[in-house]
Amino acid sequence: MKILNLYAGIGGNRKLWGNEHEITAVEFDSAIARAYKDRFPYDNLIVADAKDYLLHHYREFDFIWASPPCQSHSRARKCKVDCINNKMGINVPVFPDLSLYEIIIFLKHHCRNKFVVENVKPYYKPLIFPSVTIDRHIYWSNFHIYDFSIEKKYKIQKVNISSLTDFDISKYKDIKNKQQVIRNQVDYEIGKHILECALNSYMPVQLGLFDVI
Ligand SMILES: C[S@@+](CC[C@H](N)C(=O)[O-])C[C@H]1O[C@@H](n2cnc3c(N)ncnc32)[C@H](O)[C@@H]1O
Repeated sequence: MKILNLYAGIGGNRKLWGNEHEITAVEFDSAIARAYKDRFPYDNLIVADAKDYLLHHYREFDFIWASPPCQSHSRARKCKVDCINNKMGINVPVFPDLSLYEIIIFLKHHCRNKFVVENVKPYYKPLIFPSVTIDRHIYWSNFHIYDFSIEKKYKIQKVNISSLTDFDISKYKDIKNKQQVIRNQVDYEIGKHILECALNSYMPVQLGLFDVI
């Protein structure tokens, strides 16, 4: 398969995809992109804006994965806005980044191959009903993703650099928030499971993707 891995980060979702596919990854942050390239040297890595790349290249791929930034949708971040005297600190409110929904609508209407868009469970009711929820993430897809349960490996607050045991991120001095980059990773097994669901489904299906609430 030709796979497009948008908003690649350091490739948690991609970790168990192996090397038999032709994978193009798009990541905006050049320091994170360098780490991804070291981790997955056979992938084609493009430092660019993911939406812009998608718009011009979506027809070239059999499977598209998109992981747009989740911070502005996150319940954990919102909690730090709401709680005065929160032990975890405070956050200022921000607008939710609606490019998440732009991408879902775009793919639904233009992409003739398989796609999945991933994000965190938001603090509001999703504007587009997701296809599936697995662990702390929700997914919109045009193929069936079978249920999957994983054992929670760590509590989100406890992520630190040493929790990433299969890749040494400490040497990338210009990656500013390494904990965030690690926390952003999709669970490896879930990434693998979703790719397998895409590989094993023949025709894209509609799963209430446009139940706008
Ligand atoms: C949620 S993380 C991706 C996590 C990744 N899927 C994983 O499993 O490791 C989102 C990534 O998108 C990158 N990013 C943010 N805005 C971007 C943009 N406009 N174009 C491309 N990448 C972007 C961030 O630097 C971050 O690494």
